[in-house]
Amino acid sequence: MASLLQTRGLTLKFGGVVAADAIDFDLQAGERLAVIGANGAGKTTFINMVTGYIKPSSGEIRFDGMDITRKHPRQVVQCGIGRSFQLPQLFLEHTVRESVELAIAARIGRMSLFRPLARCVDRAEVDHVLEVVGMAARAGDRCDSLPEGHRKLLDIAMALVLRPKLLIMDEPTSGVAADEKHPLMATIMKALAERSVTAIFVEHDVDIVNQYATRVAAWISGRIAADGPPEVVMNDPEVRTVVLGH
Ligand SMILES: Nc1ncnc2c1ncn2[C@@H]1O[C@H](COP(=O)(O)OP(=O)(O)OP(=O)(O)O)[C@@H](O)[C@H]1O
Ligand SMILES: [Mg+2]
Repeated sequence: MASLLQTRGLTLKFGGVVAADAIDFDLQAGERLAVIGANGAGKTTFINMVTGYIKPSSGEIRFDGMDITRKHPRQVVQCGIGRSFQLPQLFLEHTVRESVELAIAARIGRMSLFRPLARCVDRAEVDHVLEVVGMAARAGDRCDSLPEGHRKLLDIAMALVLRPKLLIMDEPTSGVAADEKHPLMATIMKALAERSVTAIFVEHDVDIVNQYATRVAAWISGRIAADGPPEVVMNDPEVRTVVLGH
């Protein structure tokens, strides 16, 4: 079966630092891949290359049969890859509803300086996606009043309305209170399953990885040191020493 996402020889150096070291990677539709690795291992760099934010120095990225290696972030979104950020990029003075409206308007290309945003988008679609991520009650709240977990969920809602086939989430539970991590991930995974969206998520919390991933890839110094079922990768000797600190 052809891979949904495939990289071959993906390489990027920042000065003397090899942030991506000839990465060969395949992801199948339906997988929920956790990406683990110590700080600076190259996880975000990999995501930035796949989503068009940084160009690799060499190598190739294919998604859903297309070569996306040199595409810009907006083109990558149009190809079907959504993304949420390690630090959500929200307009803090906007409300939750306005933020989702903006994302939908960007999808349908009906941004106009002369028409109020709310008239360009379907109110029911906004309500639905906020319901899906459990934020319907906060629709009127300004983004700067949201706790971190809700900012992450809003960022994901804004990615979902772009109707991705693959959603890549960079540390969806970081900055979220310990007792909110599991409810947050359960909400996200349910929303993705309902829409048949394949997922990659960067995660430092071992319990979250074990509970929500079908597969784990461990990054060490810009390369994938181990890749496979969670019970195999989380018990790999190099991963235990270098990534998990056991
Ligand atoms: N724009 C940049 N310019 C120079 N070096 C960079 C840049 N972005 C990342 N790096 C370096 O590349 C390496 C990988 O960084 P990256 O942010 O991908 O790590 P990460 O695995 O996401 O870490 P974290 O868990 O802290 O988010 C690090 O050594 C980092 O300092
Ligand atoms: Mg990172």
